[in-house]
Parts: sequence; C-alpha cells; structure tokens
Amino acid sequence: MTSEPRSTTGTAPTPPPGCPAHGPGPGGLHRLYGPDADDLGDLYERLREQHGPVAPVLLHDDVPMWVVLGHAENLQLVRSPSQYTRDSRIWSPLLEGMVKPDHPLMPHIAWQPICSHAEGDEHQRLRAAVTAAMSTIDHRSVRRHIGRSTQGLVNSFCERGRADLVPQFAEHLPMAVMCEILGMPEEYDDRMVQAARDALKGTETAIQSHTYVMDALGRLTGRRRARPEDDFTSHLITHPAGLTDDEVREHLRLVLFAAYEATANLLANALRMVLTEPGFRAQLNGGQMTVPEAIEQSLWDEPPFSTVLGYYAKQDTELGGQRIRKGDGLLFAPAPGNLDPRIRPDLSASMQGNRSHLAFGGGPHECPGQDIGRAIADVGVDALLTRLPDIRLDCPEEELSWRASIASRHLVSLPVRFEPKVQQDVDLPPRAMPLPPQRTGPRAGTPDGAPAPAAAPRPTATRPAPEPFHPAPAPAPSRSIWRRLLHWWRGE
Ligand code: HEM
Repeated sequence: MTSEPRSTTGTAPTPPPGCPAHGPGPGGLHRLYGPDADDLGDLYERLREQHGPVAPVLLHDDVPMWVVLGHAENLQLVRSPSQYTRDSRIWSPLLEGMVKPDHPLMPHIAWQPICSHAEGDEHQRLRAAVTAAMSTIDHRSVRRHIGRSTQGLVNSFCERGRADLVPQFAEHLPMAVMCEILGMPEEYDDRMVQAARDALKGTETAIQSHTYVMDALGRLTGRRRARPEDDFTSHLITHPAGLTDDEVREHLRLVLFAAYEATANLLANALRMVLTEPGFRAQLNGGQMTVPEAIEQSLWDEPPFSTVLGYYAKQDTELGGQRIRKGDGLLFAPAPGNLDPRIRPDLSASMQGNRSHLAFGGGPHECPGQDIGRAIADVGVDALLTRLPDIRLDCPEEELSWRASIASRHLVSLPVRFEPKVQQDVDLPPRAMPLPPQRTGPRAGTPDGAPAPAAAPRPTATRPAPEPFHPAPAPAPSRSIWRRLLHWWRGE
C-alpha cells in the first residue's frame, strides 16, 4: 500500500512518548538508527510494504529523509540531475538548523569541494580530471599487480592452515592495489590499512588516522607536482582542468577511501557467499559459474554501499507516488533497490548475465572505478581459491558478525581453515601446493598440533616476506629445477 503523499520537510505532529498509535518516531516515521534499525534489511522491506517504492524515514536526531526502495525510482533519482543534486547546501533540515554540526552523519552530509558533491559545470570539470586519470590506468599491469599482491598476502598465512580473511586479506588487497595505482607503493603497510579502517569507522582516533592518510597524500601531491610520472596522481595534476593542490589531495582521498571501503566489503561479501552457500561453491567448482559471475551476484545481493547519502531535491517534484518538496533529502539505496520484487520476484533465482544492479550508482556520479573494483575482486578471489581450494569456514555460520551503519554493512571477521600450503613465488600463476608431509605434524607452541594463531598480515610483492621462501615449480620445470625441488621436498 502506498502512503499518502507528504513531504519529509513538513512539520510532523510529535506524538506523546511511547504512543503505540504513532509508531516508533515523530509522525509515526521509522528511524534508520537505534533499536528500530537493528536489521535495516528487514526494516526496508516493511517500509516497502507500508509506503511503496519511496518511504519517509528519520535519520539520527529524527532528521527527516526519504529512502528510495524501488529499482526504477533509484535510477530515476540518480539520472535526473535537473531535479536532484548531491550538493547538501540546499537541504532544508540543514538550512533550518535541524542538523547540528556534530550530527553523526555529518562526514557524509557536509559539502566538500569534490566531484561527488559538485554538479553541473563544476562536476564536469572535476569529474573529467578523475575520469581521464582513471583511463590512463593500464588494466593488464593492474591485474598483474593484483595477482602479485594476492600471492603475497596468501603467502603470509598459507603455512599456518588458518586465517581471518577480513583483516588479513579483504582489507589489505584494495589498499595494496590503490597505493600502487596512485603512485605511492611505499606507503602500503599495516599502518596505512589500519589508518584507513579507523578513519572510516569514526572511532576516537579517527581524526589522527585521517591526518596520517592525508599527510601521505599531501606528500605524494607535492612530489608529483614537482616531477610528474606515469601514474594516477600525475595525470590528475597535469589534466587541463587545472586542479589545485587541495583539489588533488581531496580527490586522492575520495578515490582511496571509496576504493578501499567498497572493494574490501565486496571481497569479504563474495568470499562469505562462496564459503557459506554450498550451491555457490558447487557451481564454481563444476564450472557452471565463473568467479566474475559470483562477484556480480554478490553485487546484487549485498552491494558494498547499502545507501549513498544523499541526493537533494532542487524543485517540487514526485517520485514513486510521493510528493517531494524542494529541499527534501533522499537516500539513494542500492541494497533495497537491488531486491525490488518488481525486478526480482524470486530472490533465490540467479542473476547470471544481468549487470543492471545499482551497486555502482548511475547517472553523472556513477562510480568511475568500477572496473578496478571488479578486477580486484575477480583476480583476488580467483587466486585465493586456486591457492587454497580446500578453504572452509572455521566457525558456525551463525557466529559471523557484521558492523552495520546506514551507509554500509561490513563483515567483522571471516575465520577460515585449510590444509597448510607452501609459500609461492608471487610472480608465478597461483597453484595449490600442500606443505611437505613432515611439516604438517604438531608444531612448537601448539600442543594439540593445531596451526599457530594467524599472524598480522604480511605485505606483498613490494615488501618481500622475511621468512625462507619455498618456491612452487614453474609450469614446465627443467630437470635441474625438479632435482632442486625434490631435495627441498625431502628436506635435504
Ligand atoms: C566494488 C567496488 C566499488 C563500488 C561498489 C563502488 C560504488 C560506488 C557508488 C555507489 C558511488 C556513488 C554513486 C552516486 O553517487 O550515485 C561511487 C562513487 C565513486 N567511486 Fe566507487 N565503488 C567501487 C570502487 C571504486 C574504486 C576502485 C574507485 C577508484 C579507483 C572508485 C571511485 C569512486 C569515485 C571517485 C566516486 C565519485 C564519483 C562522482 O561523484 O562523480 N570506486 N562508487
């Protein structure tokens, strides 16, 4: 049933506290925070039933907002720049002082001089520089780098027989790749991964962590302004749009954080699906589904950004049967949009071959990094599964936990087990190589013979692992290589 048309900026009568007739928030509106929002997926479905494809909701401090639940309506929102803008400075609750400077969603809301918040000519100027710099990326060498980084990360835990794929893999791989693409491979390490994670989580140390990342991006901007090279940052700087140093730094931050957060989520979600849904694994093993198809299914079912805050109405208009007033705010919402029963009447049906999901947005702000995000996930998951074909979840599925916010839902941890494997040359194609038999017995410090606890992830090809290296054989090894391999295998 569709609700009565109304504007979210209208003054809603405030019901007495606890009044059951008025639902959980002022005006009977549902809150996208607090106890009402324990399960946002479930709440979106209830809202869809109650209001149809566009529903009025409340953000923190009961600030009114629309959430767009329909697939077609989400596309209409992002593809109508004459009606909706991403510039929050026209948002009525902000102009009316309802949104305080310390509002928890301020980092998403506050206008910044970056392409995601700009529109019209200014958007075109900034976006042209980003798109042009993106188009100079050599995708073959990026794929090679993703492969090498994956090999390095797997080397850091393969001998232990267990790992936590969120902190040791999903959160590292995108950072390794992005530091290389931006032109600062030397900055990739545990500290940079932790800083980005911390800055995005908004913890107490978020400001210091943010400063740490910005300092690195500032140094990079200065170096490339003085002497451009052939990397993303240099092309951003030398683009005819003439970005200032501040604009360059802000766009490097946008690209680094957008890529890191979205791709880490995508990797974790896709691996979780492969590990917990038997049909998925069977189809991958049986060749009925490729890894890129599995990634695409994950983009449908669990888009890395559940919603994007926000779009703002430039004029009075109508969307999904709701009257939208000039200055109203709307949440672009890929997560419920991808589950719209009008396009997916049966959620268990495969979406193979259909890429019309909303995970990368659409319209003028459509994600310019989607090919890179997909490449990191495709190459990374494929190489990981090739190296560790017997990988399995190391806890009951019900024990997996997520950290959820309006913007995204992150898996906190993904513990896995597998038979220990030898390390492998990061420059060779991935292969499954079990440890020699004598190395799989009980080890010092692990009385029951269980593998030692997983170590902190060790860096990749750019930072070689300090442990002795056990190379896997090349595809067509010569006799002398075989002999050496045999010696090593026998422990001679
Ligand atoms: C799988 C991974 C990714 C997903 C799901 C994703 C998703 C998105 C979404 C939903 C938006 C907002 C669209 C809108 O406002 O309507 C966006 C914007 C953006 N993304 Fe991505 N992204 C991913 C990876 C990347 C990567 C790897 C990069 C950079 C290399 C990147 C760079 C950007 C930038 C610069 C914007 C702002 C564009 C603008 O406002 O004009 N993203 N992304």
